[in-house]
Amino acid sequence: MDWGLANRLSRIIRPETGRTVMLAVDHGYFLGPTSGLENARKTITPLLPYADSLMLTRGLLRTSVDPQKAPPIVLRVSGGSSILKELSNEDVTTSIEEAVRLNVAAVTCSIFVGGEYEKQSLMNLSRLVNEATPRGIAVLGVTAVGKEMVRDARYLSLACRIAAELGAHVVKTYFCPDFEKVIESCPVPIVTAGGKKLPEKEALELAHNSIQHGAIGVDMGRNIFQSDSPVGMIRAVRAIVHEKSTVDKAYDLYQSVLHTTANARRNVL
Ligand code: 5RP
Repeated sequence: MDWGLANRLSRIIRPETGRTVMLAVDHGYFLGPTSGLENARKTITPLLPYADSLMLTRGLLRTSVDPQKAPPIVLRVSGGSSILKELSNEDVTTSIEEAVRLNVAAVTCSIFVGGEYEKQSLMNLSRLVNEATPRGIAVLGVTAVGKEMVRDARYLSLACRIAAELGAHVVKTYFCPDFEKVIESCPVPIVTAGGKKLPEKEALELAHNSIQHGAIGVDMGRNIFQSDSPVGMIRAVRAIVHEKSTVDKAYDLYQSVLHTTANARRNVL
């Protein structure tokens, strides 16, 4: 593998564990001011020391993250549709020159396999691979799921395999029953999304299951930044991903951070 690409990938996937905790805060590109990200800088800043990488758009990166404090960046470079319209109708929004200028470790876009604009989204990913790889920048392919698509192993294997065949270096998908089948048939590493906000313990179980069944990490958003203790949650997720922690131990960590923060706040008032 090209040295620059290997170096950038190793900034995202920790060489000590071969795993990664990616923090996804790119939701606004189609959802607008998502709950928890209304003041993105305030939400993101305390989480930065615990994120192996940060997935977001150039707009949020420029306005809401200090260059001196940023972890490796996974730049969302697709968009063009909102939650009010057909989501699969995406294009590449951000040039590779801008990705280089922003010193990102990877670029990312979604593919909508089975979606109305399937081909367009697959060509977006292909274009990213064509433009990013010669510059040593990695590509994360995100398997987006439309309302009408079932998140089962058959569908997700199809979508992940297509992303890998088109050249993605890492694929982001959803955990599902028989997840091993998705892992076995995808020749590149897989990270899982968190999806809609769950009770904290269930979100930690999801992270634990993903790792146990072969994912190299998580790329989690709402289950971290919508938690009543985002720092507690990201630290608990890290314990599972990097320290082989059980769900119970990780949950205890989350609760102890939650209570410490609550006590500190009470003492200030
Ligand atoms: C949308 C995305 C989102 O960034 C990501 O999936 C959201 O993460 P989470 O589901 O954990 O909130 O890639 O396609």
